[in-house]
Amino acid sequence: MNQTGIASLLLGFVLLVAAGAVLAQEHQIPVAPQEYLDMESPIDMDDVDEDFLKKVNRLYKSKCRKCHGTQGDGKGSASEDIEIKPTAFSAPGYLEEQKDGQLFWITMYGSEGTEMEGFGPDSDAGLSEEKIWELVAYLRAKFTR
Ligand code: HEC
Repeated sequence: MNQTGIASLLLGFVLLVAAGAVLAQEHQIPVAPQEYLDMESPIDMDDVDEDFLKKVNRLYKSKCRKCHGTQGDGKGSASEDIEIKPTAFSAPGYLEEQKDGQLFWITMYGSEGTEMEGFGPDSDAGLSEEKIWELVAYLRAKFTR
C-alpha cells in the first residue's frame, strides 16, 4: 500500500472511533413502556435471604457478570471492548431510582443497539419471567448503594 492509502486508512479509523465516541455519549438507556413501569415484582424483598442469593448468583455469574461485573460496577471482563458501557448498578443511588419494571423490561428484551441482549423466554437464553424477577431482586439486594 502506498502512503496515501495508509493515510486514508488511518483517517478512516480515526473518524470511526470519533463517531463511536459521539454515539456512545449520546446514548441513553431506553425507558420501559408504562405498563412495565407500573409492574410490581412478585418477589418480596423480605424473602430474599442467603439461600436465594446463592441460587441466583449462579445465574448472574453465568449470564451477567462478564459485563456488569462481580461487584455490579459495570466493569466485567467483557466491558472494556464495549462501546456503550454496561450499566453500573452499584453507582450510588442508581438502583433506588430505577423501578423494578424498568430493570425487568431491559433484562427481558435488552437494549437495542447495545450489547445488552434480552434474556426472556423468547430469547436465546430463554429465561422464564420468574427467573428475570429473581435477577431483579438479586441486583437490588447485592448492588444497591
Ligand atoms: C454482553 C454484555 C452484557 C451482558 C452479558 C449483560 N448486560 Fe445488562 N447491560 C449491558 C449494557 C451495555 C447495558 C447498557 C444498555 C444501554 O445503555 O442502553 C446494560 C443494561 C442493563 C440494564 C439496564 C438498567 C436500567 O437502568 O434500565 C439491566 C437491568 C441489565 N443490563 C441487566 C442485566 C442482567 C440481569 C444480565 C444477565 C442476565 C445482563 N444485564 C447481562 C451489557 C450486558
